[in-house]
Amino acid sequence: MAILVTGGAGYIGSHTVLALLERGDDVIVLDNLSNASRESLSRVEKLAGKSAVFCEGDILDRACLRDIFASHNITAVIHFAGLKAVGESTRKPLEYYENNVSGTVVLLEEMRSAGIYQFIFSSSATVYGANAPVPYVETTPIGGTTSPYGTSKLMVEQILQDYAKADCNFRAIALRYFNPVGAHESGEIGEDPNGIPNNLLPYIAQVAIGRLEKLGIFGDDYDTPDGTGVRDYIHVVDLAEGHLKALDHLTAIDGYKAFNLGAGKGYSVLEMVKAFEHASGRKVPYQISPRRDGDLAAFWADAALADQELNWRVTRGIDAMMRDTWNWQSKNPQGYK
Ligand code: NAD
Ligand code: UD1
Repeated sequence: MAILVTGGAGYIGSHTVLALLERGDDVIVLDNLSNASRESLSRVEKLAGKSAVFCEGDILDRACLRDIFASHNITAVIHFAGLKAVGESTRKPLEYYENNVSGTVVLLEEMRSAGIYQFIFSSSATVYGANAPVPYVETTPIGGTTSPYGTSKLMVEQILQDYAKADCNFRAIALRYFNPVGAHESGEIGEDPNGIPNNLLPYIAQVAIGRLEKLGIFGDDYDTPDGTGVRDYIHVVDLAEGHLKALDHLTAIDGYKAFNLGAGKGYSVLEMVKAFEHASGRKVPYQISPRRDGDLAAFWADAALADQELNWRVTRGIDAMMRDTWNWQSKNPQGYK
């Protein structure tokens, strides 16, 4: 019995592959390396003392999928592969819909042909759209997404729900991630964005290491305690563990179910900067910049459902997030290069 992990060489995928290997699962990774390097998996294998089977290929490539399903006894798929840059998705909507939506449909079709029906999907808090009340609860209607990226996640959730309704063999869990940050505590694997980071913590870390001059804080006039944006940051190792819990829960659900994976607590940009400075002992120079288009003032998860049903909750707080981010960044100033 083995688990197929698409996008398993990427940031969240590599941490999840490590957790799977550590608990003794056999793992097949399918990744086209469009946003990752083989090095992440080499390091995962070193940490685990065990190998995963690596297939360099694309989820849109049916022949490649057929070959993988025919060669391994795969029981479930954890599907991370996809494009994830919100801004880029507004400039390249077709690429995002093809990769994230068509790619998922192709994968599901080939799984069905191979008789594989267990599926974990990387969704995002962004499916709640711009007007949902906080904290976000799974019972809040989703929709009103503001980018092709967000809409691609929404569409896949709908596809999974419809497929589960039509075929009682199929079981899917959508995990709605809040803001994943941090790195494995070894400092061997972590987030290695291409080019200038879009997200807050990689940006802060690259300022601290001297790759970038200063952080721009996107607005200090939001209706939040200190005026800067508030988000629910979640340590990537906690997030990885959530996937294992979800995998074990698939047989207990009725077709399809979505869970928030978040800490249930928000931190502002300024709080994040201060916490990072404290953990790293480095100053993070910043300036207040205009608001970023599409940003929301504040959101965080209601994390109760995952706690009750998956028996999952975060165990790593802001200090661990900052310590592990800095450990990864300072050990690997240029990422995996
Ligand atoms: P990532 O870019 O590090 O990982 C995605 C991996 O998928 C990469 O290794 C990339 O090479 C691979 N890939 C992309 N398209 C592919 C294709 N067509 N075929 C095969 N491989 C392909 O991103 P991540 O941060 O690890 O995110 C993983 C998943 O979680 C994504 O679906 C993302 O949308 C979702 N997600 C991420 C965040 C976040 O903040 N990181 C938040 C919410 C949801
Ligand atoms: C972004 C995406 C979201 C995605 C999430 C996780 C946008 C508009 N939203 O969310 O869809 O699910 O990443 O990948 O891109 N900030 C700064 N300066 C920076 C970077 C960020 O002040 O250089 C602020 C932002 O305004 C925000 C907070 O830091 O208040 C977090 O930003 P970020 O890490 O980009 O995540 P989100 O905007 O929550």
